[in-house]
Amino acid sequence: MTTPDPTPAPSPAAPESVWRMFDRIAPRYDLLNRVLSGRRDVAWRRRMADDLRGRSALRLLDLATGTGDQILHLLDAGADLASAVGIDMSEEMLARGREKVRQRGLAARVDLRAGDATQVSFPDASFDAVTISFGIRNVGDVPLALREMRRVLRPGGRALILEFSLPTRTLVRAGYVFYLRHLLPGIGGVVSGDSSAYRYLNRTIEAFPSGEAFCALMREAGFVQVAAQPLTLGVATIYRGDAPSSA
Ligand SMILES: C[S@@+](CC[C@H](N)C(=O)[O-])C[C@H]1O[C@@H](n2cnc3c(N)ncnc32)[C@H](O)[C@@H]1O
Repeated sequence: MTTPDPTPAPSPAAPESVWRMFDRIAPRYDLLNRVLSGRRDVAWRRRMADDLRGRSALRLLDLATGTGDQILHLLDAGADLASAVGIDMSEEMLARGREKVRQRGLAARVDLRAGDATQVSFPDASFDAVTISFGIRNVGDVPLALREMRRVLRPGGRALILEFSLPTRTLVRAGYVFYLRHLLPGIGGVVSGDSSAYRYLNRTIEAFPSGEAFCALMREAGFVQVAAQPLTLGVATIYRGDAPSSA
């Protein structure tokens, strides 16, 4: 088995077909995340709240928010969010998210709306924290999305990025790549009815920069105090970076 190069350049331009694909799988999206990650995604999402401890009354922006899961799990994990805005290109994902927000009585605090992560429609320094979970891989122009995250953060504000990554240990990595190539598209296809979406998932995970390569992209976008926290043997990673305190 050939192992992929861990540090290829991110793919350019997210075509409309990417978020259209999320429109198609939206009805089963949350369920599939739980099944395909063995519920680890919930622990990973809640773990993000640790990186916001001690910060209060946060104004949060969640890019590529999908069904709003990251915002809701941050709240469950005790993050002190005064308000949260989630933006996404897929109306079907947003519709499911709005329903979850409504059911939990959070509509006054959580606003999910259409928007592009590479062209964020908020002024500079509007937010205390910006998150993107399993989304940065999909946005097309990754450096541009990172610069937008940096731009809308207030000085000293924090960006958190949760993304799949490839384990560095050879055997673990080989097992994971086998799962990505041979098991995930089948399971994802059966549950979602759209196996092409899950072939897309394995290709993008293998091609996306992880670890130090991704930290370098964050530094290039202007973040400081950049750090990577690998999760569950390195199959996912939380990247953290702060906007400089004085611009
Ligand atoms: C894998 S889902 C992640 C959803 C959510 N963040 C989560 O944690 O479950 C990726 C999302 O990125 C969205 N997306 C893709 N390109 C985007 C862009 N340029 N701007 C905003 N959202 C985008 C898709 O519509 C999809 O909902």
